[in-house]
Amino acid sequence: MKMRAIMSAALVTTAAAATFALAQGNDRVAFPANYKDGIHYTTVERGNIREEIYANREAIEAAKKGQPLPSGTIITMEDYRDGRLFRYIVMEKRTGWGERYAQDVRNGDWEFQSFQPDRTVNRSENVSRCMGCHKAQGNNDFVFTLDRMRSAKVSQAESALRHAALMSEARDAAFDASVLALLAQAGESNADARVID
Ligand code: HEC
Repeated sequence: MKMRAIMSAALVTTAAAATFALAQGNDRVAFPANYKDGIHYTTVERGNIREEIYANREAIEAAKKGQPLPSGTIITMEDYRDGRLFRYIVMEKRTGWGERYAQDVRNGDWEFQSFQPDRTVNRSENVSRCMGCHKAQGNNDFVFTLDRMRSAKVSQAESALRHAALMSEARDAAFDASVLALLAQAGESNADARVID
């Protein structure tokens, strides 16, 4: 009888600790004020939703080498609805951060947080929902867009070069199109000429 009382007391303590852990987790991720110094690696669009996703440079470099995302990785998403900023959501990985979670909840060493457009924590968001859904990406370091991190452009110089290359390709295509149009016109007038002949 006494043993049972002790055990249920222990269970209550564990449950309290788990709740505490979630509340704590909620405060571990600070708004990453400098996220735009990192790399904007992808845009996801779905219906009226547009998501602009950024990660710090070290994370992108690790992803490109096929390495695990390092401790200190921060992924920041600007979440727009109908073109207006609706919220920011952030996931941050630090060695040991996952230790307080039970295995069936834990997302490696990631913590999740949701921020309002004014960058304050959105207290009404239940971060255990974030963990529940991202857990499915366990084989991809809990990141849905890991492939896009791998294929991201790394340096600004490189992205400027790619942009220039695309522009010249576009110019070439426009040039080709106008030449073809001219040729077609010429062909037509030749044909006309032939008809006249
Ligand atoms: C119902 C499933 C689901 C829930 C709940 C969810 N996410 Fe995601 N999350 C996704 C998907 C899917 C993507 C990939 C982008 C897309 O398709 O919109 C994503 C992308 C992200 C990304 C960009 C990195 C990545 O994994 O691709 C961050 C950061 C993120 N979510 C944070 C959060 C946070 C913080 C919460 C909780 C406030 C949350 N997510 C809740 C499904 C979910």
